[in-house]
Amino acid sequence: MKVSIEPMKFCHVPSVAAIEKMVYSAPWSEHAFINEILDNGFASYYVLLIDGEVAGYTGIWVILDEAHITTLAVSPVWQGKGFGRSLLEHAIAEAAKKGAVRITLEVRVSNLKAQALYKKLGFTPCGIRPNYYHDEDALVMWLDNLPSFCERNGFSVVKTPAAERDWEG
Ligand SMILES: CC(C)(COP(=O)(O)OP(=O)(O)OC[C@H]1O[C@@H](n2cnc3c(N)ncnc32)[C@H](O)[C@@H]1OP(=O)(O)O)[C@@H](O)C(=O)NCCC(=O)NCCS
Repeated sequence: MKVSIEPMKFCHVPSVAAIEKMVYSAPWSEHAFINEILDNGFASYYVLLIDGEVAGYTGIWVILDEAHITTLAVSPVWQGKGFGRSLLEHAIAEAAKKGAVRITLEVRVSNLKAQALYKKLGFTPCGIRPNYYHDEDALVMWLDNLPSFCERNGFSVVKTPAAERDWEG
């Protein structure tokens, strides 16, 4: 079994949108992912491929020294095998390379599985955004001091030069 994490390309988007429909009650459309890849200079999206098939994905926005996890999902058939953690660690390391020193995310207050993963990696709950999902509140979580997090976990913290960032994605 060959597992890799790579930048999301247009050819991955139909599979990503199919997983999105399986795991979220308000899924993003293919168009939303394409817009993010094409038009959002702050965004970077990644897919986890198993033998060339999309099994999960994640996205970050990095604005100055703060990063935001915009999405994280693993296909139901591949959940519970450590791939969510791998994707999250990759996203954090990429955010640090792009200059982020702290990273945040929102998660449904009822999504205890995802919250367990985030807490395991050191995210701490910092507040509630009421009705963030229209039908439910969001728990806001932060992970501070990314350079030290990456060093502790053996992730490279060599920053990507700004000139190279233009060519990613
Ligand atoms: C949340 C999600 C990304 C986790 O991915 P995953 O591949 O299933 O998780 P992993 O196998 O990497 O597990 C990592 C940790 O998550 C937690 N976790 C995973 N499955 C769990 C379960 N069924 N119950 C409680 N905690 C669980 C555990 O802390 C686990 O660590 P451990 O195996 O050392 O105990 C995945 O379940 C998913 O896509 N869910 C639907 C979409 C979603 O909720 N995304 C998050 C939005 S904020």
